[in-house]
Amino acid sequence: MKAEIIETGVEPQRAIREGVRVLGEGLAVAIPTETVYGLAADATRADAISRIYETKGRPRFNPLISHVCDIAMAERYAVFDPVSRQLAEAFWPGPLTIILPLKPDSIIHSLATAGLDTVGLRCPAGFANELIRAFDRPLAAPSANTSGKVSPTSARHVMDDLGSKIPLILDGGASKVGVESTIVRVDPETGTILLLRPGGLAAEEIARAAGRGITRRAGPAAIIEAPGMLASHYAPGAAVRLDATAIEPGEALIRFAGATITGMEHAAIVLDLSSSGDLAEAAANLFDYLKRADASGAAHIAVSAIPDEGLGEAINDRLARAAAPRDGSHEEETDNG
Ligand code: TXA
Ligand code: MG
Repeated sequence: MKAEIIETGVEPQRAIREGVRVLGEGLAVAIPTETVYGLAADATRADAISRIYETKGRPRFNPLISHVCDIAMAERYAVFDPVSRQLAEAFWPGPLTIILPLKPDSIIHSLATAGLDTVGLRCPAGFANELIRAFDRPLAAPSANTSGKVSPTSARHVMDDLGSKIPLILDGGASKVGVESTIVRVDPETGTILLLRPGGLAAEEIARAAGRGITRRAGPAAIIEAPGMLASHYAPGAAVRLDATAIEPGEALIRFAGATITGMEHAAIVLDLSSSGDLAEAAANLFDYLKRADASGAAHIAVSAIPDEGLGEAINDRLARAAAPRDGSHEEETDNG
């Protein structure tokens, strides 16, 4: 099999029609979203969801996000507390996933929720939103990459990785945000907002909109509370080294804001996430640059320090996972599977 590619900007109607048709057959389709490309399938069908897990080689105990086209659709499957509703109204469509209690009559399949009594819901913007509206069912969609690899932010990335395993890639161009959605869960009793995964919506923005603080977990549990989210092989082939202030000849360098790094003239490749120091631009470039640095053939990728505020929190989270020790096993899974 070789995936067909349809450009959503060039043939929007055919992209929707073919997307709906292939999804209706219970197959998985790569779709563009503002965060990263998703590998989407009908969230109400076990056979369709199984295809996602098989294609990615992803452990089945890791739940998937279900994507909806608006709050009304979300309400068919989940119960909103007031704070969660406020966040959905403020940020949907957009790069925010909210963990909510499932309704007892929800038709989202338990394979998508890994049997939990909660569901992760996100309302994506743009083409993905139109596709879900036309399909009129929720789409389960993790990032469209082999489990453990760097997430794709272009149709080319998806083609290189999964092109022989899926029938259709809908090409919406480069993902604007570039890192996965921010995941939160609200304690319905207290209204406390718990940050489960930093992502494409800065925690500061969520706090501002909600008029209350965001709670983070300290220590390794901070990485996330969902099942199977601790290990870290969100990884390029090369070893990643963080907070580099000097590099050895032949290393690849990813820097930020024009930072001067000792020895950089002997780097295999030098990439600046944002020469002007714009964290949104840096997030949008992050995964593509990790892939490019990897493709340079360097055994090590050195990364200079990135400010840990705003979208920098998500960038540093993904970099920490990429740099974490690898044991070669895929038994544990990251939230980036
Ligand atoms: O931007 C994104 O969020 C992308 C695009 C495609 O929408 N999707 C994505 O999905 O990153 P995925 O499957 O790679 O990440 C989903 C994360 C996992 O870490 C999973 O454990 C968590 O969401 N999750 C899903 N349902 C959950 C639940 N009910 N409770 C806690 N965590 C949940
Ligand atoms: Mg992923």
